[in-house]
Amino acid sequence: MKQELLDKYNTPVPRYTSYPPANYFHEGFNSEQYKEAICESNNQYPQSLSFYFHIPFCLRLCHYCGCNSYAAPTEEILHRYIAALHKEIDMVLPLLSKTRKISQIHYGGGSPTFLPAIEIEELNNHILEHFETIHHPEIAIECHPGWMSEKDWNELIGAGFNRLSIGIQDFNPLVLTIVHRKSSLLPPEEIVSILRSSKVRINMDFLYGLPLQTEASFSETIERAVSLQPDRLVTFSYAHVPWAFPRQKILEKAGLPSSDEKSKMFENAYRILCQANYQPIGLDHFVRKDDELYTALQNGQLHRNFQGYCTRRTTGQVYAFGVTGISQLSTAYAQNTKDIIEYIEKIEAGILPISKGYQLSTEEQITREVIETLMCNYRINWNELSEHLKISVDEIKQATAYTPTRLEEFAADGIIEFDENHIQMTTEGKLFVRNVAASLDKLMFKTDKSFSKPV
Ligand SMILES: C[S@@+](CC[C@H](N)C(=O)[O-])C[C@H]1O[C@@H](n2cnc3c(N)ncnc32)[C@H](O)[C@@H]1O
Ligand code: SF4
Repeated sequence: MKQELLDKYNTPVPRYTSYPPANYFHEGFNSEQYKEAICESNNQYPQSLSFYFHIPFCLRLCHYCGCNSYAAPTEEILHRYIAALHKEIDMVLPLLSKTRKISQIHYGGGSPTFLPAIEIEELNNHILEHFETIHHPEIAIECHPGWMSEKDWNELIGAGFNRLSIGIQDFNPLVLTIVHRKSSLLPPEEIVSILRSSKVRINMDFLYGLPLQTEASFSETIERAVSLQPDRLVTFSYAHVPWAFPRQKILEKAGLPSSDEKSKMFENAYRILCQANYQPIGLDHFVRKDDELYTALQNGQLHRNFQGYCTRRTTGQVYAFGVTGISQLSTAYAQNTKDIIEYIEKIEAGILPISKGYQLSTEEQITREVIETLMCNYRINWNELSEHLKISVDEIKQATAYTPTRLEEFAADGIIEFDENHIQMTTEGKLFVRNVAASLDKLMFKTDKSFSKPV
């Protein structure tokens, strides 16, 4: 990477994992607005329904964790939490049109596999008995392999899950011990064989930047991952934010790798995965070339929602249940409270526990489509977007901060190639896709939010 490009473009810009970014959500958005947005969502695109359940509990908290995770609750709280999830479903489902189809159900956390499979199956059934699904919907769950026996994996398969995401983080038991994480109960090869025999798709999560990890040890972990051939894998860069998660301070004492060592770990992982024929998606996702995300990327049809990357086929508007869950509807975002007791008590009182959200203007809905297309596919074809959104190219460009002179500057710096029909990120420019997206974002004209740098 040329130093001049880094000096010029390595400036704070949104990460655009949503548009507008989550730091624009505000407390002025309330549960009545959420209900209105749900009703409107019946007539909006995409038509499909995507449901998210947040299960915040873990048997043991990993020192590095930056997720909304809490230690195991009492029996009573757990029982009330599950009952609240069912009641929240009962409050939301009557607002949804029965003609819509389910494209995704996703469980995240915390560790959703903290719940007995039977409880998860009952939540699934509660939703599935009310709607049809699209052909091959995605029913997915994040799994902590440290606590899962062969019976547990088989019960999840029996409960209808067809995509399991396994939190490996690192295969080296010494690394896992120092971060207070339990190693996989079954050898990963055995887990893969159980899942493959039932045609379940496999995702794996890895994390680099932890104590005791070295360039060589993380490469070994990624090589072992390649030998297991998961359909998708993610290499998360460890985000060290002890002011937000004080438990992470313990890792400072254990000694964290330098940022130089960290970037070498990633470079090696990237090279190993590309050589093994994995396709990088975004900055840290990799997929096999027989995965539908690969085909979607080739066709410019890759999408992203808070459940992760998806295709136009599987993308639905997201209705979230549980603490911190974010619903992602055509016209609004709505986030539930992060306080478990407040969540339970509000639901028990018949109130949807929205703590913040955002109502999108029509212009912002168009800009969201443009920015998401660019961020996922590294290109924009204005005519395709016009066909998809059923409005003219000029109307789309006017909704955004599209300025040819700004794009000419990116092109002169070798970041993009563009003409009036396309924007295409160059290979060298992909690192700065956020900067190009920000140039199309009218909210950036007068923003008071703080953002991170691309590198
Ligand atoms: C909710 S957890 C996955 C499910 C399950 N609890 C587990 O640990 O296997 C989601 C993922 O976030 C990633 N993660 C957690 N803390 C992180 C941090 N501080 N920085 C970057 N990634 C992190 C981990 O890779 C983890 O697999
Ligand atoms: S990484 Fe997973 S198991 Fe560990 S604390 Fe976070 S959510 Fe829980």
